[in-house]
Amino acid sequence: MNGIRDSVAIVTGASSGIGRAAARRFAEEGARVVAADVDAEGGSETAEAIRDAGGEATFVETDVSDRANVEAMVEAAVDRYGGLDFAFNNAGIEGRNDSLADQADDNWERVIDVNLKGVFLGLQAEIPAMLDDGGGVIVNTSSIAGVVGFQGVSPYVASKHGVIGLTKTAALEYGREGVRVNAISPGVIETPMVERAAAANPEMIEAVSEATPMGRVGDPEEIGDAAVWLCSDDASFVTGETLVVDGGYVS
Ligand code: NAI
Repeated sequence: MNGIRDSVAIVTGASSGIGRAAARRFAEEGARVVAADVDAEGGSETAEAIRDAGGEATFVETDVSDRANVEAMVEAAVDRYGGLDFAFNNAGIEGRNDSLADQADDNWERVIDVNLKGVFLGLQAEIPAMLDDGGGVIVNTSSIAGVVGFQGVSPYVASKHGVIGLTKTAALEYGREGVRVNAISPGVIETPMVERAAAANPEMIEAVSEATPMGRVGDPEEIGDAAVWLCSDDASFVTGETLVVDGGYVS
């Protein structure tokens, strides 16, 4: 894809699932990658696997819900690689399943802190670094739960709808300064997050596959490809947009 070679890309949630696959795809296209995650073991493995494959990557331990951590993540990219071109704000948690009436404050707060405040803090730290470097592109991970409602996961649904609102606002505020901001809304993608849900509900993958026009769930690489494409010059007039990558599930 055009415009990725020799760039600098941050990927959050890079220890697992979609973030790991996306970090690998950015590196395969020639980006130098800062792989950020709260899970140090998985993040180090991601960075090592990229280096073993001939790419360039550094792991930075980061809790995306913590402002100082997020600022340090961006500083690490600038100090190590000389600037920041792309950020994929992808870290997220599913939280606990409960009806709206039974949702506990701690579940609401943690899910909103990681999934929504995490993106807000990312935008605040990443955009100034991109402006110093002539512009850049940010992709935020929402979900099909950011487009339609789902029962039992109200904090998750609220956080992912919020990510789309933040994405649109950032695109409006920074378009003229050369920063594009988009969201991706994945459908059900086979990652450890979904494996945890399937452990509690073994029929889930089959049921979702049946309800999906393409007849299957997605692979993490298919979201990684979408993130890299949105960052590339091939998407140079795309901003404020949400790309639903779900095999047609919400169509
Ligand atoms: P995953 O659980 O495999 O990976 C999530 C990663 O985020 C983990 O490495 C975890 O350590 C990291 N993380 C969690 N809290 C963090 C924090 N406070 N700071 C930094 N890192 C943190 O999940 P998956 O499936 O790869 O999810 C990635 C993103 O995609 C999430 O935002 C999720 O909500 C979203 N998503 C996933 C879908 C799926 O079907 N797998 C569908 C729609 C959206």
